[in-house]
Amino acid sequence: MGPAAAARDEQFWQSVARRYRVSEEFVNLENGYYGIMPEPVRRAHAQNVDHLNALNSRLLRTTYKTQADHVRARIAAVAGVSKEEIALTRGGTEALQLLIAGYRRLRRGDAVMYADLDYYSMQYAMNWLRDRRGVDVVRIAIPEPASRQAVLDTYAKALRDHPRVQLLLLSHMNNRTGLVLPVHEITELARSHGVDVIVDAAHSWGQLDFTIPDLEADFAGFSLHKWMGAPLGVGFLYIRGDRLTDINPAFADETYPADDIRSRVHAGTCDVAPVLSVPTALDFHRHLGGNPVKQARLRYLATDGWSGRGTSATWSC
Ligand SMILES: Cc1ncc(COP(=O)(O)O)c(C=O)c1O
Repeated sequence: MGPAAAARDEQFWQSVARRYRVSEEFVNLENGYYGIMPEPVRRAHAQNVDHLNALNSRLLRTTYKTQADHVRARIAAVAGVSKEEIALTRGGTEALQLLIAGYRRLRRGDAVMYADLDYYSMQYAMNWLRDRRGVDVVRIAIPEPASRQAVLDTYAKALRDHPRVQLLLLSHMNNRTGLVLPVHEITELARSHGVDVIVDAAHSWGQLDFTIPDLEADFAGFSLHKWMGAPLGVGFLYIRGDRLTDINPAFADETYPADDIRSRVHAGTCDVAPVLSVPTALDFHRHLGGNPVKQARLRYLATDGWSGRGTSATWSC
């Protein structure tokens, strides 16, 4: 069955719904903050918490590194990149903050750019560059209505008007309006101006059908506890292989060599049960049909499937 037919298979989606334990006290329409785990993941996570508690530091000092490496390989395979281009984080925020703060190619007098709809914490991180790196910060407004062409024209004009911009933050899927930016096209445009792009893909991966190469971006941050169903506390960052030297090791990390992407994240001693549960979340994601089927189902619900009242701004690009 193709994605379009799978999107309409209510029996299948009812069986999916039964895999989630939801509160009977309220109906939560917000999955964006973080998504609850489906039962297989919740059970795996509970076991991993027990396992971690029973093995104590022995786990972290012996098998964990290999297991985490296996998790990186699983994520990389779904994302269409190599394991060496991925480092695990505690979520999208950590991934994006490390990319923004670690970006090395800014010189005093350069500028950085983001949009009014970008996630506030990422706007703050971009503003932080003003004091830390002596750059100007350009904040543009996403046009309304946000048609594909209007968005492309806005970025094209902003890049023309601000030739000192060196770094651009782009949100693949907006957390407030659901707007999906044509990241591929904007990134190519930015590249033609010599501008690097960091993509905030915290919301898109697990909702939209894409792999990282489709974005054309060299740097991106992802969350696994939103739409991929992993336990709260896990995400990853992506740096294209030949761009690793453009992101500083995290706090001058020396745990890993500078040519190992894992040196770009140093979270210290933290809960690894969410990481160990990622393979189960990826299995469940595959069971749903992966990104193509999830995208088709969400689009169906946003348009014909749910009283026919989808908004045109959502999914417009
Ligand atoms: C657009 C966007 N970017 C980044 C983040 C941060 O992701 P995380 O919650 O994984 O830290 C969020 C969280 O809601 C978000 O909505």
